[in-house]
Amino acid sequence: MDIMDTAASQAEFLKTLAEKSDGGALRGDYALANAQYVVVQDWTAYTPAQHALWRRLYERQAKLLPGRACDVFVESLSRLHVADSIPRFDRISEALFKATGWRLVAVPGLVPDQTFFEHLASRCFPVTVWLREPHEFDYIVEPDVFHDFFGHVPLLFNPVFADHLQEYGKGGLKALQVDGLKYLARLYWYTVEFGLIDSPEGLRAYGAGVLSSGGEIEYCLTSPTPSRIRFDLERVMRTLYKIDSYQETYFVIKSFEQLFNDTASDFTPIYAKLKTLETLPADPTLLSGSRFRRS
Ligand code: PHE
Ligand code: FE
Repeated sequence: MDIMDTAASQAEFLKTLAEKSDGGALRGDYALANAQYVVVQDWTAYTPAQHALWRRLYERQAKLLPGRACDVFVESLSRLHVADSIPRFDRISEALFKATGWRLVAVPGLVPDQTFFEHLASRCFPVTVWLREPHEFDYIVEPDVFHDFFGHVPLLFNPVFADHLQEYGKGGLKALQVDGLKYLARLYWYTVEFGLIDSPEGLRAYGAGVLSSGGEIEYCLTSPTPSRIRFDLERVMRTLYKIDSYQETYFVIKSFEQLFNDTASDFTPIYAKLKTLETLPADPTLLSGSRFRRS
């Protein structure tokens, strides 16, 4: 892509973002982003108040992890030593590269699907540089540095999960070619963001969206309201999801190996099949018949 193409497609992307946010102000400064939407994390520009807010977010969330987050998440996170201030991406990136060959790249905020997949396919994880405002302590719509870093980075230290995410990135690039994006996006949502795992110690969360949430981390495990369903690839890819409330369904994997193996086949024929089937509601109790009704 030449520079004009890049500029044109960036302008196009920013327009779709503005539409998504109802024309409201866009979070994030895209002016300095390169063609891959990468920026430099200007760590010295974070204010003491922002570091203090990170500390409060970290403290609240870290307390909730034992017995709720899967063990590998808790162990990885504690080895990062990022409780006290917004992390320096370059320092963590170096440690991560030694562990699993992944790197962190700083981004201004949401990036186009293709760019996101290209980063993952080359073992780079994009992390948003900005931190939420104090009034967004409990809830934030767009991912900020707390969600991206706290929620996603620890599991990148796990070799199986790390390999899975790279395969996901490659699969994303393919999905764009074969019109499978919406199915693949549901898979990401119900695993990487909101996934539960049936560990030997009991049901635990591994999805970044729940692990970085003050309320949903408990809700997803113990509330009688949502359904918890054994992971089934096609079922997941057919299931709609909620972006503005707690989930109505969580899918439970047995292990990261299972996730890796169950997603290893070529999805192209699966996408073709799913196009002939109806979507399933986010709340399975709305399905007609009793097959998916919760007990
Ligand atoms: N196997 C998928 C495909 O062929 C790629 C993929 C791997 C998707 C892992 C998600 C997770 O498209
Ligand atoms: Fe996320």
